[in-house]
Amino acid sequence: MFSGKARAYTNIALIKYWGKENQDLIIPMNNSLSLTLDAFYTETCVTFSEDITEDLFYLDHQLQDSKATLKVSRFLDLVRSKADCSLHAVVKSQNFVPTAAGLASSASGLAALAGAASAALNLTLSPEELSRLARRGSGSACRSIYGGFAEWQKGDSDETSYATSIPSDGFENDLSMVFVVVNDAQKDISSRDGMQRTVETSAFYNGWLQTISQDLAKAKKAIANKDFTALGEVTEASALKMHGTTLAATPPFTYWSAESMKAMNLVRHFRESGLPCYFTMDAGPNVKILVERKNEAALLNALKDQFNAQQIVVAHAGPKIEILTEEEA
Ligand code: DP6
Repeated sequence: MFSGKARAYTNIALIKYWGKENQDLIIPMNNSLSLTLDAFYTETCVTFSEDITEDLFYLDHQLQDSKATLKVSRFLDLVRSKADCSLHAVVKSQNFVPTAAGLASSASGLAALAGAASAALNLTLSPEELSRLARRGSGSACRSIYGGFAEWQKGDSDETSYATSIPSDGFENDLSMVFVVVNDAQKDISSRDGMQRTVETSAFYNGWLQTISQDLAKAKKAIANKDFTALGEVTEASALKMHGTTLAATPPFTYWSAESMKAMNLVRHFRESGLPCYFTMDAGPNVKILVERKNEAALLNALKDQFNAQQIVVAHAGPKIEILTEEEA
């Protein structure tokens, strides 16, 4: 029996990944930049064993169906082939999320699976190699190998597409990310399906790609200068552009709900009344608000009149992936 355990934290992109150049290898169309967060993480234990004849996948103590297990098995196949191993595995994963409102993330899940499975088979991978491996499970997972800020360099092959850490002299610790959990979700379109439909059909997709490098440069400069306003502005702009592309897809779709719009309008209103904060959104209706830590309490106070306490989750910068020993898990 060979076991490995890992804990990986989720990340939220400030400059979004939206679209694949290669769907099988998960090579993206554009570089992206993220902040790893402390509030949401996944712990996964993988045990390869001669005693079982198929892979078994438990999520939050529940044995998963064949569809969910197949995804895990496909990923494990990559690790098995790297390690020249043919054993099946039991995978036990637990998502640690502050509310039950659908905040579990594929980024932390696939990063933890990559870390645990590679540790179990004693693959000694560098952070870049582990990032490449996690990428094969879910693109955004490649950024969860690092704490703080990370950039996914799109590259043009399996070898060259991975994330690296962005040096920031501790700027990430000046920031908070406040989640507004919106409950009136529309019919789900996964990020995988949504981005693919957008690449294939959106009249705005080229416009999205054209401004990526300038947005990335702005974000990196803002991090280097610890310039919150510049980072917030480009974060919000990147999210709006990404979501704009979905409206011009065929058939068109949006992740925004009435509650999302309410939250976004409030952020603009707070800003106009002297509270600097900026929003971002991913492939769902929740709104995430970037604010300086020194203004976190003021933001929470302003939000409390509009949303109930269970809808608000506060996160700060989180650590890199951790490979756990038996005792820590
Ligand atoms: C909107 O990483 O979930 O959150 O690579 O198909 O698994 P796959 O997609 P995923 O997409 C994330 C999209 C996003 C933006 C981002 O995280 O950069």
